[in-house]
Amino acid sequence: MFDPAEMARHDAEAARRMPGPDYYTVLAWIHAALRPAVYLEIGVSFGESLKLAAPPTLAIGVDPDPQADHRWRAETHIHRMTSDGYFARENVPAISLALLDAEHLFEKTLRDFRNVERHAAPGAVALLHDTVPLCERTAARQRVTEFHTGDVWKMLAYFALRRCEMDVVTILTPPSGLTMVRGLGGGDDGREENEIAALEWERHQDHRITIPNSKAAVQDWLLRQ
Ligand SMILES: C[S@@+](CC[C@H](N)C(=O)[O-])C[C@H]1O[C@@H](n2cnc3c(N)ncnc32)[C@H](O)[C@@H]1O
Repeated sequence: MFDPAEMARHDAEAARRMPGPDYYTVLAWIHAALRPAVYLEIGVSFGESLKLAAPPTLAIGVDPDPQADHRWRAETHIHRMTSDGYFARENVPAISLALLDAEHLFEKTLRDFRNVERHAAPGAVALLHDTVPLCERTAARQRVTEFHTGDVWKMLAYFALRRCEMDVVTILTPPSGLTMVRGLGGGDDGREENEIAALEWERHQDHRITIPNSKAAVQDWLLRQ
């Protein structure tokens, strides 16, 4: 369905721009450092990220079409539904760590983030995948490439422009970056984010603050008060 030659070019370019351990390795470092009581993953797919949770964590996956069939290390519950459906329930537990990795659209990711924030435990960390696009084609809202981040990068503008009280850093981990956010719980005024949604592609790096793609740098950021 996608051009294999373009796929290979994008993969090579992502590895060149973002050398070092991949996103699953980084996620494993984060679990090891935080040992979160409750981990919520929005967008499970084959369970390759969900399976990184380990005891004593309670892992919750939400996906309308999960394909995962693992021997989970942590106690793991998968809810076959959309994130909106999950957050409409009454018994959402306090979330210590969340990964947002579902639809690659700014407004959907923002809605998931706002819902995570409403249920955040003190000191919670939110992770956003796909915050580092390669080029405008890979950031298209209508997917035309296999390597696809959509316009999730606009979340970095949202944090910088509307939520400057939050601590937000991005790790340039292949294939498409991972952003860590803490300082959750304040909420925002819930207004429409049309100005941010309308940002042009040229602005995609404006609000990106990076830390090295190394275990030491990631754990140092996580464990710093
Ligand atoms: C990129 S994949 C997740 C990959 C997984 N986190 C990993 O790294 O192995 C995106 C997943 O999001 C799911 N998804 C799409 N819309 C969703 C929604 N509204 N709520 C929750 N999950 C959704 C899709 O079914 C798909 O399995």
